[in-house]
This record gives sequence, structure tokens and C-alpha cells, in this order.
Amino acid sequence: MISIQNVNKWYGDFQVLTGCSTEVSKGEVVVVCGPSGSGKSTLIKCVNALEPFQQGDIVVDGTSIAAPQTNLPQLRSRVGMVFQHFELFPHLSITENLTIAQTKVLGRSKDEAIDKGLRLLDRVGLKAHAHKHPGQLSGGQQQRVAIARALAMDPVVMLFDEPTSALDPEMVNEVLDVMVELAQEGMTMMCVTHEMGFARKVADRVIFMDRGQIVEDCAKDAFFGDIHARSERAQQFLAKILQH
Ligand SMILES: Nc1ncnc2c1ncn2[C@@H]1O[C@H](COP(=O)(O)OP(=O)(O)OP(=O)(O)O)[C@@H](O)[C@H]1O
Ligand SMILES: [Mg+2]
Repeated sequence: MISIQNVNKWYGDFQVLTGCSTEVSKGEVVVVCGPSGSGKSTLIKCVNALEPFQQGDIVVDGTSIAAPQTNLPQLRSRVGMVFQHFELFPHLSITENLTIAQTKVLGRSKDEAIDKGLRLLDRVGLKAHAHKHPGQLSGGQQQRVAIARALAMDPVVMLFDEPTSALDPEMVNEVLDVMVELAQEGMTMMCVTHEMGFARKVADRVIFMDRGQIVEDCAKDAFFGDIHARSERAQQFLAKILQH
């Protein structure tokens, strides 16, 4: 479903991604972790063409991002993205947030879009909040709306960039529960997260990045089970985040 092929990317002179390659199969859940600044956000933003890269290619469901004839807005509309800071439209109601891209980008009728949006809002447990504005919801609720909004576009894959790291601790689980459900339903997911409980529960593979490179790319059981077989950098990182 996602094929990342020897991607190199620079910001000016600074090489932010170096020789990144990996594959994500349909229905697979891949957790991406690694130290701050290692290029995790940049890598997943490249997957939905939010960030351009200079070398290599990324193919999403058969569509090459590097190919000049590719319609990037169309590709982007099929890749769901959930960010750390929700990025809902603050001046629109929850219903409007859930329907605007469906009508504007996919050309759905207003009724169809509302029907779909409300069904997804119900699914994330927030049907009663449809008429509110984002500012009237908690962080955890806003993030669940953001997930519903992404799902309303019928994405072929879902990308998450630290979706719980801006939340108060008691709201983390309500968002992770929605993500676990999605994973169990067979959604193809690439998630940047340091929630190792989530990784243990639903990830098929774990990718560890350091200084722009994919240093580890292995099955979850290998990643957590045989820590001494991991690179020194991954061991240090895991020791730090698993300490408490
Ligand atoms: N627009 C930009 N221009 C120049 N450098 C950038 C830009 N965006 C990111 N960088 C640099 O690229 C590197 C990777 O950034 P990125 O945001 O991908 O890291 P990350 O692994 O997601 O980190 P974090 O865990 O803090 O979110 C960092 O050194 C960052 O400073
Ligand atoms: Mg990041």
C-alpha cells in the first residue's frame, strides 16, 4: 500500500532524510519512533506529499508521488492525516468540519456528506457534539473529531503524527482506543508515536529513526522482545522511554 524507496530529502544544506526505504502492506500497522529531530514527521509528511523530496520515490496504492503526471491533491485526498494539534477549522461547527472536504474535494452532496460525517462522529462517541465549535470541545474530543474527519474521506491509509502527545494524560486513552479499533478493523496505518503500549497492542512493525535514517525496521515482537539485538541507539532510546 505504501512503498518508500530510497528517499533523500534536504532542507537547504541539511539532509533531513537519508536513504529511507520501507514497505507498508495493506492492513499493516507500522509505528515510527525515534528521538526528536530524527525526521519522523518529515518522513510521514512525504507520504502524503505535504513535503517534497529531492530523490527516491514513494508509491501509495500504486500512485507514484515523484511521477510528474501525478495529481498530488487527488492523492492527498486518499491519505488521511492526523496531526498533534488537531488542526480543525476553529470557525466551523463540528458538522461543517466533517463535511467541507467531502463536498469540496470529493464532490459529495451536502446530505451525503452530513450523513457520513455524523455516522463517523457517532463512531468516535461524539454524536451529541455535532453542532458545537472545536473550541467547545476538550483536546481528546477534538482529536477524535480530527480522526473522524480524516475517515470521512474514505482514505486508503491513515497517517498519524504524535496524535496524543499534546493531550492531557486522561484524554490519551480515548484517542488511542479509537486508533486501536481502526487498526483492528484492518486500516493501513503509519503512526509516529511514543505510546509503546499502543505499539505493543496493535503494531505489526516498529520503525526506529535516528538522524534522518531508518535504523530499525522490524516485527514488533523482535523490537520489544530481543532488545539486545537492536542497534545501540535504539537500545538507548528504548531504555529512556520504557524506564517509567
Ligand atoms: N521546514 C524546515 N526547514 C528546515 N529544517 C527543518 C524544517 N522542518 C524540520 N526541519 C529539521 O529537520 C529535522 C527533522 O525534523 P522532524 O520534524 O521531521 O523531526 P521529528 O523526528 O518529527 O522530531 P519531533 O520528535 O521533535 O517531532 C530537524 O532537525 C528539524 O529541525
Ligand atoms: Mg515530529
